[in-house]
Amino acid sequence: MSAVVIVGAQWGDEGKGKIVDLYTESADVVVRFAGGPNAGHTLVVGDDKIVVRLVPSGILRAQARCIMAQGMVVDPAVLVSELDVLEAKGHATRGRLFVSDLAHLILPYHRLVDGLREATATDGQKIGTTKRGIGPCYEDKAARRGIRVGDLADLDGLEQKLARAASAWGPVVRELGGEMPDVSAMMSELRPLAPRIVPLIADTAVLANDAIQKGERVMFEGAQGTLLDLDHGTYPFVTSSSAVAGGACVGAGVGPTRIKRVLGITKGYATRVGEGPFPTELAGELGERLRVAGGEFGSVTGRPRRTGWLDLPALRYAARVNGLDGLAVTKLDVLSGLDTIEVCVAYDTPEGRTKELPIRHVGKVVPVYEKRPGWRESLSHARTMAELPQAAQDYVRYLEAEIGVPVFLVSVGPRRDETIVLRDAFG
Ligand code: GDP
Ligand code: IMO
Ligand code: MG
Repeated sequence: MSAVVIVGAQWGDEGKGKIVDLYTESADVVVRFAGGPNAGHTLVVGDDKIVVRLVPSGILRAQARCIMAQGMVVDPAVLVSELDVLEAKGHATRGRLFVSDLAHLILPYHRLVDGLREATATDGQKIGTTKRGIGPCYEDKAARRGIRVGDLADLDGLEQKLARAASAWGPVVRELGGEMPDVSAMMSELRPLAPRIVPLIADTAVLANDAIQKGERVMFEGAQGTLLDLDHGTYPFVTSSSAVAGGACVGAGVGPTRIKRVLGITKGYATRVGEGPFPTELAGELGERLRVAGGEFGSVTGRPRRTGWLDLPALRYAARVNGLDGLAVTKLDVLSGLDTIEVCVAYDTPEGRTKELPIRHVGKVVPVYEKRPGWRESLSHARTMAELPQAAQDYVRYLEAEIGVPVFLVSVGPRRDETIVLRDAFG
């Protein structure tokens, strides 16, 4: 059995795209199981850079089949524009990309409501969403009135469902000061998109299970990160889906007994985009330095990402709620040039000092830092641990020991080849 789940261990943007693309060298199937175009996964091969939002990061590997499973929310216009970009760059999608008919559609009123809520929220209530309609779309799913990818195959039925949705959301839109898009305008937008998407429809849970059954290598690609998970994150400053490893089972229709291994990805420091608690945030010059060195600007919205030191209690939390078997440490190169690197080793909380993250008090914890020696050298040439400066090797081994999870991979640059692979994801 060779099914591996890869998830973000922090607040998203850990480098999931790069690591999934890298390990897909030997994968047969890559499955996205949650989230939608709020994700931005960056793939850099040579001088070419592609940011995928909906399509799995395995798409650059011609031998891999890619699945968008039922746990996802799909914006049809974003999907079609992504297909166009990939095909223009010579990456075939026909016959190797499959979309679940049960995944929910993000429609214009979802994006509209998301944007209006953010625009009208008072300080302290803003989530800082990507305004891609994610929350309202998952709301419709939970309310059991969502419109799904399979509905694109029956345009008359779709029009009726849109009319019903318009009457459900109309008052909400008006209350927020907006105007509900007209059903016929929405249909004119959807009509040309449907024939591009309908041929991709498949029973993706069957595809994923059959592949596992046959002994193929199946990778589940997480989106967002553990601390943005709807149940386990820093609620309410979270996304609206299950970003943790368990979400792979729910979102793809694969039982937990079929998963061989779970890998978590963390940067060598921490970032967060959007509002919400971030205990180790660096507000001043150091924070700016990490932002610039790491190119920490959102791949979906272009917003500057908040930056901070690595947070070990938060990573221990991620190790626990995901059941991590391994870690990939990315962006270690970004820390080059610092004399000292600080690491949050514990928190002071209303209930005393702890090495664990008390998620319900996350807004009130005070980080306790330890100083680690930094290094001056650039790391991007390193392909083995021995080629890293001693202080960088020690940093990786230190966090491995502190989190109690073995490091499978260290990333020292955005490019696919700028990587130190210590263990095979599937082996
Ligand atoms: P994802 O959402 O987890 O896939 O991550 P993003 O693609 O949103 O953000 C990660 C950013 O860091 C992208 O711009 C990547 O190209 C870049 N990146 C990934 N790994 C490394 C690394 O090891 N070093 C550097 N400098 N950049 C990296
Ligand atoms: P990837 O997959 C980083 C954040 C938003 C906001 C919150 C809710 O690239 O790691 P939403 O639009 O989902 O309702 O926004 O979640 N967020 C992300 N932050 N990376 C992501 O995805 C994110 N997806 C959502 O900034 O704080
Ligand atoms: Mg991202």
